[in-house]
Amino acid sequence: VKVIVKEDYQEMSCAAAHVVEKKITENPQAVLGLATGSTPLATYKEMVKGYKEGEFSYRNIQTLNLDEYVGLDKKHPQSYHRFMCEHLFDHIDIDLDNTHIPRGDAPDIEQECQRYEGLIDQIGPPDLQILGIGRNGHIGFNEPGTPFDSTTHVVTLTESTRKANARFFSSLEAVPTHSITMGICSILKSKQILLLASGEEKAPAIDRLLNGEVEEDFPASALKNHPDVTLIVDEKAYQKAV
Ligand code: F6R
Repeated sequence: VKVIVKEDYQEMSCAAAHVVEKKITENPQAVLGLATGSTPLATYKEMVKGYKEGEFSYRNIQTLNLDEYVGLDKKHPQSYHRFMCEHLFDHIDIDLDNTHIPRGDAPDIEQECQRYEGLIDQIGPPDLQILGIGRNGHIGFNEPGTPFDSTTHVVTLTESTRKANARFFSSLEAVPTHSITMGICSILKSKQILLLASGEEKAPAIDRLLNGEVEEDFPASALKNHPDVTLIVDEKAYQKAV
């Protein structure tokens, strides 16, 4: 894992946006793997800024998102579909037909998992995958114990992940209990991976990632089996790992 340490969240986000912009300049038909959550928000803001300043175009870019909540349709305010539109897709020239997110409201969720994994192989794998990391080391919604050979699948969310995400919902009870996520194996198909982490709450996870074992008990450690991973981290998230 190549590590780049930036002073703060904003610097981390600018650096991440530059990596994306370099990729889409080199390949205007690149496939981007995208994440939701708080971490990539300012990265997406910087990407929107770069687009509005006329420097970059997403016209022929395709995207594949990591995950979606089961039971929420595309229009639900807390769906990852809505999140991506609000924070990125509505503000750039991307063709919405080229954006792909698992369908949380699919009538047959198992079939949806297979369809989505097929899509990763068909239009992907992503040239560049953006990832955040959970405090327990989850990537996507792959919680500790997820087999490294997992493909897109349905997961039961842990109490800690539901609590961490409750801030976006009216109450803890309103947080869905399941999600559909790319598996560890699906994520590792990406040609290049950009892992972002900011803030001291992520410091123990970054320490364990960089200094700990590769084990299924800590999903992000699978990234050490991938040949091209860059971690962009701010000083607060890096402080324990030094
Ligand atoms: C989001 C995702 C999650 C988040 C992780 C960190 O698509 O797959 O794994 O990246 O939960 O979330 P934040 O960035 O909110 O700390």
